[in-house]
Amino acid sequence: MKKLLVANWKMNGNKQFAQNFIEKMNDVHTEHDVVLCLPFPYLYIGERKNFSLGAQDCHDQEKGAYTGDVSASMLKDFGCKYVIIGHSERRLYHGETNQKVRSKAEAAISSGLIPIVCVGEKTHGDNPDNIMQQCAESICKGCIIAYEPLWAIGTGITPNVDEINQVVERLNIGYNAPVIYGGSLNPNNVVHIMRDAKISGLLIGGASLDFNAFQQIVHKLI
Ligand code: PGA
Repeated sequence: MKKLLVANWKMNGNKQFAQNFIEKMNDVHTEHDVVLCLPFPYLYIGERKNFSLGAQDCHDQEKGAYTGDVSASMLKDFGCKYVIIGHSERRLYHGETNQKVRSKAEAAISSGLIPIVCVGEKTHGDNPDNIMQQCAESICKGCIIAYEPLWAIGTGITPNVDEINQVVERLNIGYNAPVIYGGSLNPNNVVHIMRDAKISGLLIGGASLDFNAFQQIVHKLI
């Protein structure tokens, strides 16, 4: 079945790196939907054959005096199809609340983008009710939900598949939305997680910065 594979580069790379990566991606043929969420300046680069473009944030207003911000319609103008909203790093470093996340997701949808809204608990073993509360306040119709436990991001530690499934099952009851998983994915753990967790795809951070690792991930998923 077709999976959604989202690469989140965060604030990494440079022009040369982005050009090389994109050039090589154009030779990676896959039946899956691959999305590269690049830093804003690199969204303009080159021809895109085998992947869609995504951004890592947008503003919730269409335009105005918001220095440093980028609107969803600007991203759409540059060929973006997806935008990550409410990543835990945005929530932490930019003080984004659930309400802000929801209004950004709504702005993305109004502009024709698909928002990938991130939710997840801070520490292993947190009450999953907190995630449901986070969703209730930040998800709107038309979102893809990215379940990203904060303790699994960039740590090399992942939840086991049962733990992922417990959250996904609750999300499936509450929301008619695809759920993807993110946090410490790499070519060695994606097959097992994708096969046994009830998810529609993956959100990949660190491993998406290594072309060979990312290509392996794309090719390993059937
Ligand atoms: P990671 O990041 O794959 O490096 O853990 C995932 C994310 O933050 O989206």
